[in-house]
Amino acid sequence: MTTDDILSGLQNQTIGRQIQIYNQVSSTNDLARQYGIDGAQEGALILAESQTQGRGRHGRRWLAPPGSSILASVILRHRLRAHQVGLPNLIGAVAIAIAINELTNLSTQIKWPNDVLIRGKKVSGVLMELEYDRHRQPFFVMGFGVNVNTTWAALPKELRASATSLQMESNREISRVSLLQAILHRLEENYLRLKHGETASIIATANRLLYRSDDWVQIQMADRVFRGQAEAIDQGGGLLLRDMNGKRRRFLVGEVIQTGPETPTD
Ligand code: BTN
Repeated sequence: MTTDDILSGLQNQTIGRQIQIYNQVSSTNDLARQYGIDGAQEGALILAESQTQGRGRHGRRWLAPPGSSILASVILRHRLRAHQVGLPNLIGAVAIAIAINELTNLSTQIKWPNDVLIRGKKVSGVLMELEYDRHRQPFFVMGFGVNVNTTWAALPKELRASATSLQMESNREISRVSLLQAILHRLEENYLRLKHGETASIIATANRLLYRSDDWVQIQMADRVFRGQAEAIDQGGGLLLRDMNGKRRRFLVGEVIQTGPETPTD
């Protein structure tokens, strides 16, 4: 994967116009954060073939065999309005889900707020981190990992029940460059919509792809757990959950955990 390969055929105006590729880094989000603090332009993209400290949400690790995946972080400088705070994760997940589907024809689903699934298994995740630059201006690092050509044998054992890769799902090798170009294209499209306050179509796509298990789910908040059934994503990117008493609750942050078919208690 080279910068020239990625730039050839990429029509974007902002996202991915400036690219740095590394063989090994601690975490592409760490590098992007530093670039952002130092004033890197909006849309700058950091890529790596492998990470020693790849991380996911809630302090989890992100593991990927070297050279198998897309490990990427983008700097975004849009100042979010209060009603938009639930949206950045979602614009990333929707862009990735659509790009995978376009390139491979595989059916993708979105597990709110940031996972992309295929047949119920995770193939990609998005990690948004907020930072401030030297002029105290806020910016986001949008990190995303996609399991592209990871084989079953190379997939870490602890992930085999819950994760998959595009190669495992399609039985063929997938071009990381083509996929990355497609993701960057969709990401820019979504990001421009976010900037212009035109996110209804992104929410509609997220709802069409929303992973709604028939099972009850738990939402893990910092110190509480809520149970219910995922119904929809609202215009602010929040998840609407219906609890066992039929009452709707809205979540802006949290994590959906599958609980299985047992009867919920509250
Ligand atoms: C999640 O599913 O919890 C988010 C995973 C995000 C992983 C990517 S890989 C590239 C970037 N660098 C990191 O350390 N994390 C993100």
